[in-house]
Amino acid sequence: MAELILGQVLRFEGNPMVEGPGAARHSSRGGVLVEGGLIRAVGEADDLRRAHPGAVVTDMGDALLSAGFVDAHAHYPQTAIIASWGKRLIDWLNSYTFPEEMRFADPSHAAEIASRYFDLVLVNGTTTVCSYCTIHPESVEAFFAEAARRGLRAYAGKTCMDRDTAPEGLRDTARSAYDDSKRLLQQWHGRGRLSYVVTPRFSPTSTEDQLAALGALWAEYPDCLMQTHLSEQTDEIAWVKSLYPEARDYLDTYERHGLVGPGALFGHAIHLEPRERERLREADASLIHCPTSNTFIGSGLFDMDGLARGGHRIGLATDTGGGSSFSMLRTMAAAYEVAQLRHRALHASELWWLATQGSARALRAEGRIGNLAPGMEADIIAIDLASTPAIAQRATRAGDIWEALFPTIMMGDDRAIRAVWVAGARVAA
Ligand code: GUN
Ligand code: ZN
Repeated sequence: MAELILGQVLRFEGNPMVEGPGAARHSSRGGVLVEGGLIRAVGEADDLRRAHPGAVVTDMGDALLSAGFVDAHAHYPQTAIIASWGKRLIDWLNSYTFPEEMRFADPSHAAEIASRYFDLVLVNGTTTVCSYCTIHPESVEAFFAEAARRGLRAYAGKTCMDRDTAPEGLRDTARSAYDDSKRLLQQWHGRGRLSYVVTPRFSPTSTEDQLAALGALWAEYPDCLMQTHLSEQTDEIAWVKSLYPEARDYLDTYERHGLVGPGALFGHAIHLEPRERERLREADASLIHCPTSNTFIGSGLFDMDGLARGGHRIGLATDTGGGSSFSMLRTMAAAYEVAQLRHRALHASELWWLATQGSARALRAEGRIGNLAPGMEADIIAIDLASTPAIAQRATRAGDIWEALFPTIMMGDDRAIRAVWVAGARVAA
């Protein structure tokens, strides 16, 4: 049975970071026709009603219909330690993250946190995440089992760490990382809406043998994505230099093992050398901007303007729990603030695109998710543009959709998410 969802509609016909706000299309009384988990039509409400008289109508009033948010870099195992005080990256990993990740050897803990994590992201309007797991295969099983149960398009991989820089109990080997990753990949990749991601945590916690093994695995399965971290903090970069004296730069520690190419996702990518920028662009790798994390852990200011103008492929992400929020609205607000500190005011259309189509494009899934268009998967959210008194009073002054949307971007949270559909099924309100 077809469902016709009515409301304001926001969708993209191009990239506003390149073409400006005109790349977006807004209808103040539009609709989205959904059937069989897919979007069948998008248009004006009256036209769709006339053309599809048998469809069940869900009228969301003046709520704004959009594609669900896509979070291109998260660590679901860090759900319970989000907002842990007072540390920068390396101390934060050792003090909070690694002890928590050890607990994922227990499948029941992994299952509990996976379920809690998806509850939290869905109420925030995020319908696709790309997550790290822990070194434990059980953590991957728990993530994919929960995503499958909820019908989500989801990406994840076993986090691999075999160097003695990682604590005992949280280390695999080059061999076991390859074998376990391959087994999990064969089990989950392409099953329903799930995708496996080859996941070396970052150069400081992998040996060259492990990076080489994972480079070989990725070469065997080139339609998988590969995710890791790059140039997040200056102390981390100095550490990489000391561990890899022969490498030209941080990126080279990955490049020499076949881990740079289309489908590679590099989280953070803040303090890049000119050679690294050029190589990343030429490889068409994705850079994932994690603004709440970059301010919370004190990492630095991502060069959105320079990298976007340079033609880099960029996604947006919470980096839960280094990031301080599960909300992509809060993440867009932080992206705005970080860009302002670099003298670039990101437009609401650019922020919204980054949180939907931009992140989908970073995951090379822009033809499936992250937009409202016929044939796309029906992951849809309805946004209340007056979800709190502060936002409501500001929105009454709005002269157009961007002025109406921007207060929600800057001040909104899960209260702004009025409804969520995953593959056409309504899941949270
Ligand atoms: N670098 C390596 N591991 C991590 C992680 O878990 N979080 C963040 N923010 N950076 C990392
Ligand atoms: Zn991360």
